[in-house]
Amino acid sequence: SQSYAPLAKLRCIHFGDKEIDTWYNSPYPEEYTSKYVLHICEHCLKYTDSSFVLDRHLLKCAYKYMPPGNEIYRDRCVSVFEVDGRKNTIYCQNLCLLAKLFLNSKTLYYDVEPFMFYVLYEIKPASEHYSFVGYFSKEKLNSTNYNVSCILTLPTHQRKGYGNFLIEFSYLLTRREYKLGTPEKPLSELGLLSYRNYWKHTVCRSIKWIIDNVSPEMLPFLTVSISDICDISGMVANDVVTALEQLEMLVKQHDQKYGILVDMEVIEEVLSNWDSKNYLKIQPENLIWKSVV
Ligand code: ACO
Ligand code: ZN
Repeated sequence: SQSYAPLAKLRCIHFGDKEIDTWYNSPYPEEYTSKYVLHICEHCLKYTDSSFVLDRHLLKCAYKYMPPGNEIYRDRCVSVFEVDGRKNTIYCQNLCLLAKLFLNSKTLYYDVEPFMFYVLYEIKPASEHYSFVGYFSKEKLNSTNYNVSCILTLPTHQRKGYGNFLIEFSYLLTRREYKLGTPEKPLSELGLLSYRNYWKHTVCRSIKWIIDNVSPEMLPFLTVSISDICDISGMVANDVVTALEQLEMLVKQHDQKYGILVDMEVIEEVLSNWDSKNYLKIQPENLIWKSVV
């Protein structure tokens, strides 16, 4: 008789104390995806199709109390670890497999060595328990200006500002490298929504910063350029232009160049709207980090 590859049955993952529906297929080894549920260790991201095996593993998981990598950012309630794909290869591969469950596009799974992974955790103050929220990956050496390869917030933690935090974090690293950066293309639909939102309020904040930092007598002569905004934000010019278009503050000048028509009312509205959400903000002074290159 002929044997057929089993259809992927996987519908959800058991992760920590949650069951999370999966969105797309991920190339986990076939023998693990023949059941509806995949059990994943929330600490080391190892997977099994047996809840019994996971329970046994949890008793002795090496990352139960401390995630892999180096803690490079700490706030009261969150922490970011930098994990090297070369040093923690299995963990990073498992992270990519997990991410693929929520990503439609092709991503890497096994060739993780050239990447750094920045993993965000929530910390429960009472227990000092690190619980996984999301991550982004970044190529260590690159000739392009990509500062994010792949970004994910677990569906159970989405729409709380964590994606925005991760994006902001990626630009903070880029500014510390004295570079400009942009995410790898193509962006997913959710990636595009999140980035467009980030670019919009960041361009507003940059313009406001420039205006707030000019002496009053110079204010009438002030011009704000796209490259000023790039320098402050770490964003590439293309993404600044995208944001200015969204804000309807981009004007084409006679010499085929673009100018910025600053509209303070729009800027204040965007900023107060965003700030009123009270999402987690980055404290740049809490980042203890040196670029690998
Ligand atoms: N619908 C509409 N707007 C959205 C959505 C959405 N589903 N998600 C984010 N936004 C916009 C909103 O303006 C949102 O603010 P609001 O929630 O107050 O309205 C703002 O972005 C910030 O959202 P966050 O809560 O910070 O984003 P989240 O933590 O949900 O993470 C992410 C966003 C990472 C894109 C998440 O949706 C995800 O992991 N998706 C699956 C994986 C993916 O597609 N990753 C991006 C691939 S592209 C790349 O990797 C370079
Ligand atoms: Zn484990």
